[in-house]
Amino acid sequence: MTKKVAIIGAGPSGLAQLRAFQSAAAKGEAIPEVVCFEKQDDWGGLWNYSWRTGLDEYGEPVHCSMYRYLWSNGPKEGLEFADYTFDEHFGRPIASYPPRAVLFDYIKGRVEKADVRKWIKFRHTCRRVEYNEATARFRVVVHDLVNDKEVVGDYDDVVCATGHFSTPNVPYFQGFETYQGRVLHAHDFRDALEFKDKDILIIGTSYSAEDIGSQCWKYGCKSVTVSHRTAPIGFDWPDNWKEVPLLQKVEGKTATFKDGSTADVDAIILCTGYLHHFPFMADDLKLRTANRLATADLYKGVAYINNPKLFYLGMQDQWYTFNMFDAQAWWARDVILGKIDLPDQAAMIADVEDRIQREDAGETAYDAIRYQGDYVRELVAETDYPEFDIEAANEAFFQWKKHKGESIMGFRDNGYVSPMTGTKAPPHHTPWVDALDDSLEAYLKTT
Ligand SMILES: Cc1cc2nc3c(=O)[nH]c(=O)nc-3n(C[C@H](O)[C@H](O)[C@H](O)COP(=O)(O)OP(=O)(O)OC[C@H]3O[C@@H](n4cnc5c(N)ncnc54)[C@H](O)[C@@H]3O)c2cc1C
Ligand SMILES: NC(=O)c1ccc[n+]([C@@H]2O[C@H](COP(=O)([O-])OP(=O)(O)OC[C@H]3O[C@@H](n4cnc5c(N)ncnc54)[C@H](OP(=O)(O)O)[C@@H]3O)[C@@H](O)[C@H]2O)c1
Repeated sequence: MTKKVAIIGAGPSGLAQLRAFQSAAAKGEAIPEVVCFEKQDDWGGLWNYSWRTGLDEYGEPVHCSMYRYLWSNGPKEGLEFADYTFDEHFGRPIASYPPRAVLFDYIKGRVEKADVRKWIKFRHTCRRVEYNEATARFRVVVHDLVNDKEVVGDYDDVVCATGHFSTPNVPYFQGFETYQGRVLHAHDFRDALEFKDKDILIIGTSYSAEDIGSQCWKYGCKSVTVSHRTAPIGFDWPDNWKEVPLLQKVEGKTATFKDGSTADVDAIILCTGYLHHFPFMADDLKLRTANRLATADLYKGVAYINNPKLFYLGMQDQWYTFNMFDAQAWWARDVILGKIDLPDQAAMIADVEDRIQREDAGETAYDAIRYQGDYVRELVAETDYPEFDIEAANEAFFQWKKHKGESIMGFRDNGYVSPMTGTKAPPHHTPWVDALDDSLEAYLKTT
């Protein structure tokens, strides 16, 4: 096989692609030459924590949006790899909501076992991807940061796995320029202790808002005010936590909301989501989509319909994560290997429209979970990725939603059944509100 494939990004999605190719090679199949470009100095994507914010030591935008003391916000049973279980990695069942370092360890375990690190060029930032009609290949321009050199290569297929929760969406509110506290986006939030004894205002109502607010509360902030554009989050929050309509303006330290109410706040944390951002993609290759389950312009949610030799992994909003990226990576691999044929463009467009309509027909979060579970099942069925019990994974998500409704600060104390092994997770040794040490060692200790 003389084909060459470029993978951009070595986060969970890019690593899934490497593992997909390696698993085919391990079964004796001929695979293309695979090169993965990763701008950070290690793999794991967002799970590779950095204390840095803004620009890194090479002047590149820091990718990390994670923060200290981050624990999984969904049950690990919903993201488990079908070919590498938690039980296999840790040698015993562990609790259901691991902190970041534990999930990072798990992600690394599979790819260390598969021995694919040799395919990755670290500290290589992709600068440009263009398609050359004459050669029917992509030209990929990469910056070797350590040697400060441009590297140019031609590839038959490109897999873009650069994630979409790293470039912040930063709205403006009146008075920000003279506000007497700190304004930051969730992307730059690193340590809840910075806000100990402070009154904080959070804008947004999704997972970052809920989790950063909970972190700050857990580590001793004075009060949390959450401002919503559409609707309040609506959990039974602690006493020093309130929900208010959208921020209208700030004067001094005083924030005024749409209902005329006010609050004096020391910091404003914009938990206002992220942009799909691909500055390196030529215009005709650039994915433009909202953050939703049925992305625009991707056949089967993966192959770019305007040039299906380009694949985007993990571009959906996410209930399912790691095993969905696997399903996508195995599927993209089989298209590249010629084992899956693509239909004509009209059929690919119809596929995208059908997915959008089916997502829009759903009304509840439960519908959305089932929808994404069905999507994962559909892709898995088309490849040799190990089949797994999607209903059990859906059930873990359903239980998670129920437990959040019962106790927003206590939901992480529950355990669920693995869709891969059928094992029920044991409870964690310490309730989440009391577990201030989020290290791997603290989480895994048994006495
Ligand atoms: C704060 C936060 C918490 C989260 N918590 C959870 C959770 O608890 N559970 C869960 O399942 N999911 C969680 N997620 C979702 C997360 O998106 C996925 O878990 C996963 O990290 C996505 O993997 P990815 O490989 O698609 O993208 P990423 O993890 O973002 O990895 C993309 C990689 O591409 C690299 N890259 C980017 N641009 C370039 C370039 N130009 N050239 C070369 N390399 C480049 C980056 O350095 C990075 O390594 C969380 C997300 C955020 C923001
Ligand atoms: N512990 C964890 O595991 C953890 C923690 C944090 C985040 N995450 C993950 O990170 C990902 C991103 O989550 P996210 O919460 O950052 O983004 P998100 O889910 O895209 O939510 C964005 C939020 O910003 C609001 N918003 C956007 N523009 C606004 C504006 N101009 N004014 C006011 N509000 C605005 C939206 O409000 P509307 O509803 O009005 O549109 C929405 O509430 C998710 O996958 C999540 O699971 C995980």
